[in-house]
Amino acid sequence: MKVVVNTNEVISKMIAEDFIEVVNKKPNAVLGLATGTSPLDVYANMAKANKEGRVSFAKCKTFNLDEYVGLEGTHNQSYRYFMNENLFNHIDIDKKNTNVLLGVGDYKKFMNEYDGMIAKAGGIDIQILGIGSDGHIAFNEPGTSFDSLTHETELTEQTIKDNSRLFNDISEVPTRAVTMGLKSIMNARKIVLIATGKNKAQAVYGLIKGPIDESMPCSILQKHPDVTVYVDEDAYSLCK
Ligand code: GLP
Repeated sequence: MKVVVNTNEVISKMIAEDFIEVVNKKPNAVLGLATGTSPLDVYANMAKANKEGRVSFAKCKTFNLDEYVGLEGTHNQSYRYFMNENLFNHIDIDKKNTNVLLGVGDYKKFMNEYDGMIAKAGGIDIQILGIGSDGHIAFNEPGTSFDSLTHETELTEQTIKDNSRLFNDISEVPTRAVTMGLKSIMNARKIVLIATGKNKAQAVYGLIKGPIDESMPCSILQKHPDVTVYVDEDAYSLCK
């Protein structure tokens, strides 16, 4: 596990360059994407590079980590909406090649097919992750099996509280989600994780220094052969 400590501005540029390098080497790369506020500047940098002609996503396929159960893709807090607004509408990707788990309708069928779809596409070449303050990655909450594939899960009180800042009221935050599992994530060839701010310090400690234990889902990443953790000073503060 490689660790890079710098400002959000610098690490967001570095992660965008990681994606650009993968796509320039393999134009039909399969990208694993994440939501949350952490990757926002990464996506802005990827869109800028695309506009400048430094990279094209026209042949790429994407798979997102997770989605809230109960939200239509048109809801402004759904992860499909987030991805369209913050990345897909600003790059030359074909939306048909973008996959975000469904949260309504026949979402269970799609969920059960998801790992197979990723494998059929050739597997994920580069996966970006954020991290929850409780150490979750995607929506794999503490206690999730390291062997998990894409599944439906119940969100913890802490996650609901953390994410309520993005909704009008905490009562509007969905309590369930569909998420790629920890094994699905570990199958990616290359993983980059971004964490900033003091409220991520405990989770980042568990990620980098903690024992590998299902109570700290992110700790499984210590076993992955190609992970780079990008953090700011605040997120890294307990690791010093
Ligand atoms: C949500 C997402 C995670 C994300 C986490 C942190 O729970 N499911 O994928 O990593 O939030 O979000 P933020 O980057 O906004 O702190």
